[in-house]
Amino acid sequence: MSIFKIDTLILGSGIAGLTIAIKTAKNLPNNKIFVVTKANESESNTKYAQGGFASVWDKLDSFKDHINDTMIAGDQLSNPEIVKIVVENAPKSLKELISWGADFDETDKGDFDLGKEGGHSANRILHHKDITGFEIEKTLLEQVESLSNITLLPYHFAIDLITDHQIAGKQYNKNEVTCYGAYILNQKTKKIDTYLATSIVLATGGAGQVYASTTNPIIATGDGIAMAYRAKAKVTDMEFVQFHPTSLYQPGESPAFLISEAVRGFGAYLRNNKGVRFMLDIDDRAELASRDIVARAIDSELIKTGNQYVNLDCTHLDKDAFIKHFPNIYEKCRSLGIDVFTQSIPVVPAAHYLMGGIVIDKNGYSSINNLFACGECSRSGLHGANRLASNSLLGALVFGSRIASEISNNRKDLIFDENLDIPEWDEEGTTVPKEKVLISHNRKTIQNIMTDLVAIVRSNERLEKALDHLDYIFQDTEKAYAKSKLSPQICELRNLNAIAYLIVKQSMERNENRGAFYSLDNL
Ligand code: FAD
Ligand code: SIN
Repeated sequence: MSIFKIDTLILGSGIAGLTIAIKTAKNLPNNKIFVVTKANESESNTKYAQGGFASVWDKLDSFKDHINDTMIAGDQLSNPEIVKIVVENAPKSLKELISWGADFDETDKGDFDLGKEGGHSANRILHHKDITGFEIEKTLLEQVESLSNITLLPYHFAIDLITDHQIAGKQYNKNEVTCYGAYILNQKTKKIDTYLATSIVLATGGAGQVYASTTNPIIATGDGIAMAYRAKAKVTDMEFVQFHPTSLYQPGESPAFLISEAVRGFGAYLRNNKGVRFMLDIDDRAELASRDIVARAIDSELIKTGNQYVNLDCTHLDKDAFIKHFPNIYEKCRSLGIDVFTQSIPVVPAAHYLMGGIVIDKNGYSSINNLFACGECSRSGLHGANRLASNSLLGALVFGSRIASEISNNRKDLIFDENLDIPEWDEEGTTVPKEKVLISHNRKTIQNIMTDLVAIVRSNERLEKALDHLDYIFQDTEKAYAKSKLSPQICELRNLNAIAYLIVKQSMERNENRGAFYSLDNL
């Protein structure tokens, strides 16, 4: 087992982690930065983003309107100061991303081809066809490659943060915790190494995998939030889970393929099995109401009709323009025998985004000393009770810049305290579990509990039942964890259990329906 001492340790290689790494590396060429990531370097929610980045660009648009739309979507629970910071910094941050090589679609006149999505009062989404995330991840990884002070470590799984309570002789006070690094499983050597740094960043993304049906890839298991929670960081708003209204209906397929909201922004209609545009009766913005409203309307439609899906009708749309903007969606549907110009696309809501997470301040600091959080694992106050479409990549980019500035300006001269007696990971007495199926069974059980009992519509009775079931899995998992040689699978199971618990517990504490949170007991 090895010990690595560096300046900045970043967990996660999506837009949040890579932005911080690049900007810090450019500002501080002598700063030694490690980016640790549990799968291959590009695997992340970022890579699958379709719609794009929200930003005021057009002269007819305004910061005031983008701020207002964000506040309305968030059901007025967003922090106005944070919303202002993110919205007003959007054009500058995007110009920088473009200077690094990111390519956004343009009109024939050479202006950005600004798309529209739910909850936006103007066209303001910069996109690269319908594979914006792929373009961004590629651009960021190219930048990382060109910077010699960044070391990127794929297939390295962060297990837990190192804080005072692991250190012999250190006074432990749960209200004043300091982080020194993390224990990381090198998946090739199977060793758990110790990484120590003066600044540590959690950029580990979301937790969609806590549900059976999600648009999130299998890496989205909420590891960073669970690690921070175990280390006693403040974690809030976990009851606010966003379900995207339109994932492709393909039973058994995981993750679910997303049909971007930009398709509705382009003019597609949602119809029930009788062909009726049911959103017209629900919200003046019809299909372009914010996601919480559309997802709930579809859920209610499915309950009423007993159908498995609703229909997304694109048959009236301009064929050439559609294929130009949405080549990936068009091709996916075609590969399944769906001709989007003559047939509707069957769609259902799927877990998509977590508004809650590790509480951070406006410079990205968590409640633990030396520890930052950025991107989907963080809760900055930007999204309130429901995130406005295409504000996530943007939030990660703007906060990524702010955290890099904070590290570069205020933390560059910090020196690691050599006198700390930091123990190495102790694997004594653990063995490789004989039956991995027990881990995968518990993972599926958590996903089914959450999908059946803690999804778009909740109730006290369902939440209590979910908590009972989760408690059993918690006991079972903790027993297995204590005696097992650690693997990503068992760690993810433990983390998913913590995330599910936090969603249920914080749902129980909310006694009014706001944004994405809706309980039958609060009507
Ligand atoms: P991620 O991009 O998810 O990166 C997390 C990283 O952490 C990964 O590299 C992962 O491997 C690593 N990691 C996790 N746990 C560990 C661990 N234990 N050890 C080591 N590494 C770890 N948002 C928008 O604004 N616009 C869109 O158009 C849009 N479209 C979307 C489409 C889809 C299908 C999905 C799933 C999401 C979409 N979103 C969109 C949301 C947005 O993509 C994400 O919120 C955002 O990319 C999150 O970025 P991030 O850097 O915080 O996390
Ligand atoms: C989409 O393209 O519909 C996803 C956009 C988002 O999650 O903001």
